[in-house]
Amino acid sequence: MGDSANVPGVFFADFGPAPPEITPEGYHEVELNKTKWILPQWYNNLRPLGEGAYGVVCTAEYEPTGDRVAIKKFFRPFQSTIHAKRTYRELKLLRTLQHDNVLEMIDVFTPDPEASSLNNVYFVSILTGSDLQNILKIQTLTDEQIQLLIYQVLRGLKYIHSAGIIHRDLKPSNIAVNERCEVKILDFGLARAQDTEMTGYVATRWYRAPEIMLNWMHYTQTDIDQLQRIMSVVGTPKEDFWSKIQSEEARNYIKNRPPIARQNFAALFPTANPVAVELLEMMLVLDPDRRISVSSALRHDYLKEYSVPTDEPVATEAVTTDRAEEQATTIDDWRELIWNEVRLFQTSARRLSFVSCTDNDEEPMKI
Ligand SMILES: Nc1ncnc2c1ncn2[C@@H]1O[C@H](COP(=O)(O)OP(=O)(O)O)[C@@H](O)[C@H]1O
Ligand SMILES: [Mg+2]
Repeated sequence: MGDSANVPGVFFADFGPAPPEITPEGYHEVELNKTKWILPQWYNNLRPLGEGAYGVVCTAEYEPTGDRVAIKKFFRPFQSTIHAKRTYRELKLLRTLQHDNVLEMIDVFTPDPEASSLNNVYFVSILTGSDLQNILKIQTLTDEQIQLLIYQVLRGLKYIHSAGIIHRDLKPSNIAVNERCEVKILDFGLARAQDTEMTGYVATRWYRAPEIMLNWMHYTQTDIDQLQRIMSVVGTPKEDFWSKIQSEEARNYIKNRPPIARQNFAALFPTANPVAVELLEMMLVLDPDRRISVSSALRHDYLKEYSVPTDEPVATEAVTTDRAEEQATTIDDWRELIWNEVRLFQTSARRLSFVSCTDNDEEPMKI
């Protein structure tokens, strides 16, 4: 999709021969699943945790407190400008966003001595049990658990959106859940501040929804398959929606689809709570003008058991795209920007001042 290698304006790094790897003072080297990790000495006892397209994540013990944390090592962050941009966005957003339902970053480090040789970037976050994809593989959630999980995802999204950020990659593997059924939204690599690129469909700001996808589509088989799957559930869009698609190519593509009827959701999910199905019906609507907003969804009957309208904080200010970020073109520009991010976080109050969140007396819901 957007990350395909032949996108114009993407620079690829010419790494040349690998530089001699020196372990700087205060750091140690650990090999984990054939990957070399160079970390500050206080992170020990590494164990693999998860892997996505852009990073490898392990758990480690933070020696001073004995707490286990999660460490993400970006996978070749400077392989291309796309990789670098993803790395930068994730660091900047996790530094800025602060909310119960957003992953809490507590440390960022690199063993590299200066911006010009920056090649290895790691960040540390509070370890949050497992991700929803793994959980769903091994257990069937109760309706109460689903209510609580959906409520927190929406609560987190409300905050993220209030900061002017769209996540664009919300899916089970990017939703961490701990044994107390607490949710943390993670993986902000695709997230971005809303801007003119989002006006592919004017009224849409918050989702990387199908109509946005239409405008960004590269018409690869994957894109088309994805769209086909969406339409096989929600049906092909009606004529009044066509005019809202900016890209002519996409509009023609949609127009020429043989019409598919929207599925009956109650029949698709016969064992689900009918109130949940009702909310899902409202969310899975192609036309964003007709789709339920996060704020309204939070007030839906399905979530009333857990919803606390007075405790749904929003951001005090929007995260914006700054000039340096707008103007960054080469991989070295991104090196500078990421180097600054690392330095900024190193001196932040949040770094390593985290406290264990296991001291709450409330009876948690087990998962
Ligand atoms: N703090 C964390 N707690 C628990 N699991 C985590 C944490 N951070 C990452 N993970 C796990 O690692 C996986 C990959 O991390 P992610 O940030 O999504 O990387 P990628 O950008 O490569 O997709 C996630 O799907 C999740 O399973
Ligand atoms: Mg991910």
